[in-house]
Amino acid sequence: MKKIITYGTFDLLHYGHINLLKRAKELGDYLIVGLSTEEFNQIKGKKCYFTYEERKKLIESIRYVDLVIPEVSWEQKINDIINFQVNVFVIGDDWKGKFDYLEDYCEVVYLPRTPEISSTKIKNELGLIRD
Ligand code: CTP
Repeated sequence: MKKIITYGTFDLLHYGHINLLKRAKELGDYLIVGLSTEEFNQIKGKKCYFTYEERKKLIESIRYVDLVIPEVSWEQKINDIINFQVNVFVIGDDWKGKFDYLEDYCEVVYLPRTPEISSTKIKNELGLIRD
């Protein structure tokens, strides 16, 4: 069984996310998503509309996704790759080169981003602020 892992915040789920997850799953048989927790989003400087639990339910309901785990730190990737016996690390090419160091542990693939859509764009265009 070929295992794939990817990481991200996936706020305000959109077709760019679905495209990424579909292509990630096509690289193997079992797709793990490391979903950024609210605390880790703060470290990354991201403000989410949906909570971790809300985003988790959405991501878990996608047919390409087999397992959702929390992403709590930048450093956990090597441990996750070893513990889950991951074969391929995949992420959008906005991160190109940033995770080459994982090549000591598994294959690293950067997939082209879907143009003209992002959570930030949706937030900006709708002026989304949640109390
Ligand atoms: N992604 C993609 N195409 C897009 C948007 C995102 O392929 N148009 C990918 C990213 O490269 C990443 C994953 O989806 O691998 C999760 O990205 P995330 O940062 O959560 O989504 P964005 O929409 O880019 O969010 P933001 O605007 O907050 O950065």
